[in-house]
Amino acid sequence: MTEHTFVIIKPDAVEAGHVGAILGRYEAAGLRVEAMDLRRIDAGFADRHYAEHLERDFYPPLREFMTSGPLVAVILSGADAISTVRGINGATDPTQAEPGTIRADFAENTRRNAVHASDSRESAEREISLWFPKG
Ligand code: TYD
Ligand code: MG
Repeated sequence: MTEHTFVIIKPDAVEAGHVGAILGRYEAAGLRVEAMDLRRIDAGFADRHYAEHLERDFYPPLREFMTSGPLVAVILSGADAISTVRGINGATDPTQAEPGTIRADFAENTRRNAVHASDSRESAEREISLWFPKG
């Protein structure tokens, strides 16, 4: 089933120079880049993206991190794109991430963990319209 999903290459991975390597893993899995933008976000935008986590203890430092430097926002398409990308990314906590996943290879810790990806059809739709409102 062809799907679209939304990915962020987070500020840690941009700073470390891993943009090309990360995109290459998605492309090697047969996914296609449909849209891509290097940008900075402010705290209000981070709050909209992470609306489900606003009340969590980990959120204030996460917001600080996500607004600390440029990130790359990406729309990918392909067969089962949502679950395929989550698998390529690996577990949220890099110490739990499967060998060969992006987070196992590039994440520093659970907060500075290199990538974000939509977790469902509903979140993909919501995140794509938040980040790329002009379609
Ligand atoms: P979550 O949606 O649980 O993970 P994922 O990115 O794998 O969908 O959490 C969102 C982000 O919040 C996660 O990528 C990093 C950050 N985070 C923390 O900083 N500490 C934590 O304990 C958790 C669970 C998440
Ligand atoms: Mg999530």
